[in-house]
Amino acid sequence: MFGLTLKPEIGTERLTLRPPQAQDVESIFHLVNDVDIARMTSGIPHPYSLDNACAFVAMAERADPHLDLPLLIEHPRWGPMGMVGLHQREDPWPEIGYWVGRTFWGMGFATEAAAGLLDWAHRARGVRAVASGHFTDNPASGRVLEKVGFLYTGQIRPRQSNARLKPTNTRMMIWLA
Ligand SMILES: CC(C)(COP(=O)(O)OP(=O)(O)OC[C@H]1O[C@@H](n2cnc3c(N)ncnc32)[C@H](O)[C@@H]1OP(=O)(O)O)[C@@H](O)C(=O)NCCC(=O)NCCS
Repeated sequence: MFGLTLKPEIGTERLTLRPPQAQDVESIFHLVNDVDIARMTSGIPHPYSLDNACAFVAMAERADPHLDLPLLIEHPRWGPMGMVGLHQREDPWPEIGYWVGRTFWGMGFATEAAAGLLDWAHRARGVRAVASGHFTDNPASGRVLEKVGFLYTGQIRPRQSNARLKPTNTRMMIWLA
């Protein structure tokens, strides 16, 4: 779906988006072992262990970037601060997902990372449509998606949350290049 099997390093105004590596396991664990992050995502369990972080990085290293392209969000001074990624799910177009560590909320980092990845996907891989969705009780993520140009499709899908352990209503959105 995303073209060649290259894993990119993407520079934005303040951030670098790059494939996570073994050296990032502890940072990822400390950032994401937070129920207020996990419960807003479908894939992140809570509590989140160091083993979960190890398995995640190993999966990211093995992943076919056509299907899963998770990238660490890194700041030159503050280091790793979150993840953003493109993933092939049930739609024919890729889906974007992200989280940012609590310390860094409200500074525009999720918006900057998502915009940077969308721009790269379009320019380097010719991606013309990207899906996303946020749980109905997560307006902050809806705001991030609106800021980078997503529109609501009107569809609500029940999606599993590994932290809530139940399907959770998800407002679906679409971005068109
Ligand atoms: C959602 C999340 C990624 C936002 O990260 P962030 O770096 O703080 O995002 P930004 O600073 O780029 O933008 C956040 C926007 O949401 C707005 N916002 C924050 N809380 C809000 C709320 N309760 N209701 C509505 N808007 C809200 C902010 O004001 C800001 O919009 P603005 O620039 O127009 O003022 C972060 O809180 C997070 O990781 N949450 C847990 C995981 C998650 O939700 N991932 C997405 C799953 S779909």
